[in-house]
Amino acid sequence: MAQRTFSIIKPDAMRKNHAGAILAEIERAGFRIVAIKKLFISKAQAEGFYYVHRERPFFASLTQFMSSGPIIAMVLEKDNAITDLRKLMGATNPANADEGTIRKKFAASIEENAIHGSDAEDTAQFEIGYFFAGYELL
Ligand code: CMP
Repeated sequence: MAQRTFSIIKPDAMRKNHAGAILAEIERAGFRIVAIKKLFISKAQAEGFYYVHRERPFFASLTQFMSSGPIIAMVLEKDNAITDLRKLMGATNPANADEGTIRKKFAASIEENAIHGSDAEDTAQFEIGYFFAGYELL
């Protein structure tokens, strides 16, 4: 059954002009783009998005990085979207990412890792709602 997930093209990939190549990989893998927007979030907005990681040692640096430049936020749909996007992205640390994955091709480090994808149904719902209103999901 078609499922929705949430994804971000992160500031490092935007700075390197990799957004188009990453979107092409996503479409080639069979995802439908339900909603998409480019935006520049504040540190406070990044902290809200990554609230579940607030106790982690990398929280300050991660939220600083995510507010360091524009991002592209999007909602993607296909069968098994959550699992399939995570496979397409590759491991969080690009050093461990399989050949052919987005992070293997475009990510520089565990923090500057080019793309985010929701890790479960409940986080996908929270993340979609954080960036998009219901009427934008078409
Ligand atoms: P993301 O999928 O956006 O979810 C949380 C992010 O935290 C993750 O990608 C990485 O960018 C970042 N992250 C996870 N682990 C570490 C770490 N050990 N050091 C720095 N950043 C990390």
